[in-house]
Amino acid sequence: MTAPKKLYVKTYGCQMNVYDSERMTEALAGQGYVATDSADDADMILLNTCHIREKAAEKVYSELGRYKDLKAEKPDLRIGVAGCVAQAEGEEIMRRQPMVDLVVGPQSYHRLPELEARARSGSKALDTDFPEDDKFAALKGRGPKARRGPTAFLTVQEGCDKFCAFCVVPYTRGAEVSRPVAQVLDEAQELVARGVREITLLGQNVNAYHGAGPGGEWTLAQLIRELATIDGLARIRFTTSHPNDMDDDLIAAHGDCDKLMPYLHLPVQAGSDRILKRMNRKHTAESYLRLIERLRAARPDLHLSGDFIVGFPEETEADFQATLDLVEAVGYGSAFSFKYSTRPGTPAAERAQVPEDVKTERLQRLQALLTRQQRALQDAMVGREVDVLFEKPGRMPGQMVGKSDYLHAVHVTDTAIAPGDLRRVRITESGPNSLGGTLA
Ligand code: 5AD
Ligand code: SF4
Repeated sequence: MTAPKKLYVKTYGCQMNVYDSERMTEALAGQGYVATDSADDADMILLNTCHIREKAAEKVYSELGRYKDLKAEKPDLRIGVAGCVAQAEGEEIMRRQPMVDLVVGPQSYHRLPELEARARSGSKALDTDFPEDDKFAALKGRGPKARRGPTAFLTVQEGCDKFCAFCVVPYTRGAEVSRPVAQVLDEAQELVARGVREITLLGQNVNAYHGAGPGGEWTLAQLIRELATIDGLARIRFTTSHPNDMDDDLIAAHGDCDKLMPYLHLPVQAGSDRILKRMNRKHTAESYLRLIERLRAARPDLHLSGDFIVGFPEETEADFQATLDLVEAVGYGSAFSFKYSTRPGTPAAERAQVPEDVKTERLQRLQALLTRQQRALQDAMVGREVDVLFEKPGRMPGQMVGKSDYLHAVHVTDTAIAPGDLRRVRITESGPNSLGGTLA
């Protein structure tokens, strides 16, 4: 028997890339690879990349630079680039970085075994097609049936048809495609059988899910209600959503589906209607606020999370103030905020840009407000009892760390707790990034 080859995967960007990295690792297990967390002893290095902002894309080239010496020392080392940079700049990567043996886009990674074989034989392998064959059907099951941690991602939808004027996703990930209901249910069952108690359904525009199922196309709400019948599955989450695809049943599910967590990531990007229009978001600040009112009517203790872009082309101080006003009106439990980054090929790239120092200053003001809100909602947990799904040991002896319904990290020191336990915890303290408590 030959010794297993070692695969080092480095993941950048969003949760969908985390999921894809797992699936690519599983796909290469069939080629005799086992995962390693050190690039130095790898036989293959695979960078799973992100193209959403300029900085994210640049990281790929600087990371590749670090492997130059390694590749010179180990001629058998194979280096691959996957993900959205591979999709957007595959041929350029091959040209600029001769050390790269393999380039594979997010829609063709089920072909990794043959690409790896080609790269292993000394040829260059590039596949950035949007193939007709069903990637997920080709990948089959989730590989070795070993037990795994209590939380998992499950991609149910890929691609985006929204074409926000700043965003590369519709180009790198392509048009919206939903996985069939039966395929999703099978994968969920398999994950639960392996010890998973919380599943986060993923999609670039996940609430536009419309997978083929019994009786026709199913909505995300139907899928969630069906998943909720799986014994052993305790929690369901989903991300990322567009406000315009939040249908009535999905809003209602937040009120009547116990397993659906009261925490929703619902990006708005900006608070000025003029900018929202220029962003091609197809909603207004007012329609977003009304939607949140309806969600909170269904589930009064819902926490919201969001994404924001500051310094979008032509954004004035008054426009930015409208973003701050919207944030004040909503009260976010957490949020991600970014300076606008020019993405070649997207409509906004051609427009009048906001100076960098203005972007930096607005980002600081927005983040200060968001941090205050996040901290206030976290501090408000002290004295309350919350459910915590424990995931792993903490840094202190006997300590375990888990997540609350609102994704707050919670530390409890109690040797009676094991990973995968869902326990009621009384919160006694709130630190900078986590809560502490005792079993209730
Ligand atoms: N510049 C800055 N942020 C961006 N995002 C998407 N494209 C850009 C860009 N060009 C942000 C949006 C999106 C999140 C995933 O990344 O806020 O919701
Ligand atoms: Fe990008 Fe999200 Fe807009 Fe789609 S909805 S174009 S993924 S920001």
